[in-house]
Amino acid sequence: MQNLKNYHTFGIDAQAKNIIALHSLNTLLEELPKTEKPFLCLGQGSNVLFCKDFLGTVFVNQIKGISIVEETQDTVWVKAQSGEIWHDFVMHCVEKGWAGMENLALIPGTVGAAPVQNIGAYGVELKDSLAQVEAINLDTLQIELFDNSLCAFAYRDSFFKQNSGKYFIVSVTFTLQKTQKAQHYYYRALQSYLHEQNIINPSIQEVANAVIAIRQSKLPDPKKIGNAGSFFKNPIVSKMHYKQLQKTYPNMPCFEVEQAEYIKVPAAFLIETLGYKGKTIDGRYGVHAQQALVLVNYKNATGAEIYALSQEIIQAVKKAFQIDLEREINVL
Ligand code: EPU
Repeated sequence: MQNLKNYHTFGIDAQAKNIIALHSLNTLLEELPKTEKPFLCLGQGSNVLFCKDFLGTVFVNQIKGISIVEETQDTVWVKAQSGEIWHDFVMHCVEKGWAGMENLALIPGTVGAAPVQNIGAYGVELKDSLAQVEAINLDTLQIELFDNSLCAFAYRDSFFKQNSGKYFIVSVTFTLQKTQKAQHYYYRALQSYLHEQNIINPSIQEVANAVIAIRQSKLPDPKKIGNAGSFFKNPIVSKMHYKQLQKTYPNMPCFEVEQAEYIKVPAAFLIETLGYKGKTIDGRYGVHAQQALVLVNYKNATGAEIYALSQEIIQAVKKAFQIDLEREINVL
């Protein structure tokens, strides 16, 4: 057995039968036919909670490479191999003057993991600039190509999340604009940060810097404190339900969604209202003090303990607000 502690960001002491680093697609194609099930493909392991040992093989994706597929005067199509570190790739694009991904700076994880949960932050989602995903069907070992619509993206959801374990994402191609001028800086926290800095028409570098500063002020660095970012999804409720709740909680924030009769409520507000923000158990694990949506492992927590805390929060939220919180992370 091999310890998974250094292969995921929650820092849980779980074991796997075998861990294999993948530096090329060929290694995966050679290994797969001789690997017994179950197996699991991890990038940086920034969205998983191990509640028990994994009695199989874990492939760790370290397949690297960035190339330009096509370019015109205004637009560039850039392909990144799935083992590229997401933040490094975003900063590479910002330095090249390719706009579109700057709001997604500092999100932990790899390029290949990004489409699975359609990562999003500060008013932008991955789906906004994704052109194509190249993935291996793990049953047939054939390459399949998915354009944006085939990926079935939704809030923290995709075809790949719905078909978890059936595909290995090899590369992702993005459509980016060749401009220094940022387009998306209207998310409240981002706008007020830029305002405080007296930045009126931000460049993509300034937006990336602002996003990095905001994230660093609120979200724990997984290298220092074990966590997997937002543990829960922000729930989408009917506007009628929201209006009802507003009678008791007039300050409850909300965000519009595409369907006019629904509204998204910050799970962090619900969790904080119930007094969980900053709560720690034995000084070992708990709810982060700056962001109630993030569960943290300070030291030696087990996955089962963190899972039990999340279950308690789900039940408390259901009782107080009649809202079903869903976990955003993968529980294994
Ligand atoms: N809020 C609280 N208490 C808190 C934190 C936030 O009440 O402890 C309220 C604030 O009033 C604020 C609202 O919640 O109005 C939204 O807060 P924030 O901007 O921090 O975003 P979030 O909804 O908590 C989502 C994403 C994050 C992403 C941020 C910024 C999900 C599940 N999470 O969090 O994504 O960085 O927006 O866009 O959608 C992740 O997925 O791992 C992640 C960190």
